[in-house]
Amino acid sequence: MKIISIFNNKGGVGKTTYLFHIAHLLERAGKTVLLETRSRKQYLECY
Ligand SMILES: Nc1ncnc2c1ncn2[C@@H]1O[C@H](COP(=O)(O)OP(=O)(O)O)[C@@H](O)[C@H]1O
Ligand SMILES: [Mg+2]
Repeated sequence: MKIISIFNNKGGVGKTTYLFHIAHLLERAGKTVLLETRSRKQYLECY
């Protein structure tokens, strides 16, 4: 299992968007992906 972390203290810089697109590409490459966000603003469910 590999863990990829995307970290930046600043909000609204594209962390969640980047995370989602990386996950999508990994799934297309045949990987199983678990997404998690530690943000207090949980925007992942928007995707
Ligand atoms: N590469 C980009 N170009 C234009 N807008 C972007 C890009 N990446 C993110 N955004 C927009 O910026 C806003 C914040 O992105 P988000 O991924 O939620 O940031 P974070 O998770 O760092 O708070 C969203 O409205 C998103 O659609
Ligand atoms: Mg976010």
